[in-house]
Order: sequence, then C-alpha cells, then structure tokens
Amino acid sequence: MIFTVAIDGPAASGKGTIGRALAAEFGFAHLDTGLLYRAVGARVTAGEDATAAARALVPRDLENPALRTAEIAAAASRCAVIAEVRAALLDFQRRTARREGGAVLDGRDIGTVVVPEAEVKLYVTAAPEVRADRRYLELVAKDPAVTRQGVLEDVLARDARDMGRVEAPLAAAPDALHLDTSEMSVEAALAAATALVRDRLPG
Ligand code: DC
Repeated sequence: MIFTVAIDGPAASGKGTIGRALAAEFGFAHLDTGLLYRAVGARVTAGEDATAAARALVPRDLENPALRTAEIAAAASRCAVIAEVRAALLDFQRRTARREGGAVLDGRDIGTVVVPEAEVKLYVTAAPEVRADRRYLELVAKDPAVTRQGVLEDVLARDARDMGRVEAPLAAAPDALHLDTSEMSVEAALAAATALVRDRLPG
C-alpha cells in the first residue's frame, strides 16, 4: 500500500508529536524532514557550502545530537531558502513518502511541494507565544541561559523566513485539515488526525 500523511506547520506547532504518534498507530515510517535541513545547517556551520552539504548528506548526519540546538535551527532555516539545497533533498523525501507500507512526513512544504498527491494532509499551527513557550521548556532543560523572550524572537524570525521565502514557503495545501493546537490538547489533535487517516485508508 502506498499511503502518505503530509504534515506541515511552523516550528513547535506539535506536528512532530502528531507525526510520530500517527506513524506508531498505523505502523507507517516517519520522516522529520526538518532534520534534513538541520543536518545541512550543521555542515554549513562547520564551514561547508550549503548546496554541496545537501548533496553529500548521509544517514549518520541525522544522528548528530547538536541538530536540536537553536543555533542549528536558525542555520537550517537560512539554508532552506536556497533552491539547490531544496532540490537536493527532494528525491529522498519523495521516495520515503511513496515507499511501500505507508509514511508520515512532517515539514513545511510536504503537502504543497514534496507530495501534493498525499492521501492525507494536515496543517498544524499554534499561536507564536504558545510555540515559543513549548520550545523554551525543551531548550532550557539543556541550557539554563536560554530566555523566553529570546526563544520567542527566534521563533518569529524563523516563521518570517520560512513563510516569506520564494522557494516552497511554509503554507497550507488548499485541501489540508487545519489543526490549531494553541488551546487543543495533544490528545484531541491526535484524535482528529487519526480519524482522518482511518477515513482515507483503503478498504
Ligand atoms: O521542523 P524544524 O524546526 O526542524 O525545521 C528546521 C528548518 O528547516 C525550518 O526552519 C525550515 C526548514 N525546513 C524546510 O524548509 N522545509 C521542510 N520540509 C522542513 C524544514
């Protein structure tokens, strides 16, 4: 069975949590496509050219523990505006999405560019302050110097860059189900997403 769940949305909207839970529930593969851009960002931070880095990625790049830092997130967002970087990552994402057995991909352009034919499309959002608070709680556990205001500024800068770029900007596909998780519990968002997937599964 070829079946893709495409999940898009801004940083810390809850799309990763929903993606992982759906993949576990239905036995699908899961790809956090942000990790690919973060891996490019990490190589660029270490001095490589962005396009060359995107073309040279290997699975081991995705295991780098530094990928979760705010510095690499910002570098990823800057690399993500480059058309050649996006093109270099497209084929791997498409092949993963259309592999046998079903797949969940989360990112910024999955339903609009990577897999416009996806059987299920979700657009997950939340208010910037809510997303910044979630990210702050994750980051401060590792680095006590992190501040709420600094994280909010990073989130807003990344939103502006990801939504404002020319190449594959963050946007909802016209046929995506919108889930605003600002006030919705993870359980409620997950229940809505699970029902939609069940409804679209063949048989
Ligand atoms: O989802 P994330 O926060 O790990 O993503 C890091 C950056 O990568 C994000 O700011 C923009 C970029 N990105 C993208 O342009 N397209 C995707 N499909 C996924 C991530």
